[in-house]
Amino acid sequence: MSFDRDTDKFRTFGRAKGRRLSPHMQTVWDETFPKLKWDMAAPLPDGELWLEIGFGGAEHLLWQAQNHADIHLIGAEPFLNGVAKAVRGAHDASLENLSLHHGDVRELLVALPDQSLSKIFVLFPDPWPKVRHHKRRLLRAKFIAELHRVLKPGGELRFASDIIHYVDWTLSRLKRHGGWDFTHTESSEWRVRGEDWPGTRYEAKAGREGRPCHYFKFARIN
Ligand SMILES: C[S@@+](CC[C@H](N)C(=O)[O-])C[C@H]1O[C@@H](n2cnc3c(N)ncnc32)[C@H](O)[C@@H]1O
Repeated sequence: MSFDRDTDKFRTFGRAKGRRLSPHMQTVWDETFPKLKWDMAAPLPDGELWLEIGFGGAEHLLWQAQNHADIHLIGAEPFLNGVAKAVRGAHDASLENLSLHHGDVRELLVALPDQSLSKIFVLFPDPWPKVRHHKRRLLRAKFIAELHRVLKPGGELRFASDIIHYVDWTLSRLKRHGGWDFTHTESSEWRVRGEDWPGTRYEAKAGREGRPCHYFKFARIN
């Protein structure tokens, strides 16, 4: 994949910045972010590599990194204040198995070799509910093909959403692509989050607002 003017010109995220970082956070950022910054030109780390796309407040990303010291995680997020939370969490827990891309994941994906990741998380991607904004949805055909390219055969894609239209949209595109195994047959399986999958801030908000969440795991086939 490369960035292409026709299909990639649309921004898939909302805010890139919130409140100004506190002086303390700015110091932590200045000291720690350079060590965590994902270097697209460097050789890949040894062992398994997992990627979280749009990690928001980093609750899930930090949990996975803390609970899988043998795996290297990359988190991609354009929202500065979210990345700052990941930086602070990594600093406080002295994590050595986490890298961060502060920006659009599509820039990072193009630089990844084929079959380099074992797991990808896309949890509660921005739903862009208005029809005229559907072009901003991340999980479009080209992006799904790119996730397939960078996953190893048998590798896993996890997807969660509280917006049923986005669930249908994604399932139909994954099916049309044809390279994914969707093993959940009972709706009870996708109504519950697994134990190896902590809740996120966005998920808690959906719960408070009465929207049921859906959780899926797909395996890359062929
Ligand atoms: C609705 S929020 C969910 C955040 C988090 N996953 C959670 O569950 O709390 C979607 C996130 O995806 C990020 N995002 C949107 N487009 C992105 C892109 N192209 N690359 C990386 N992150 C993106 C947004 O900045 C936002 O933080």
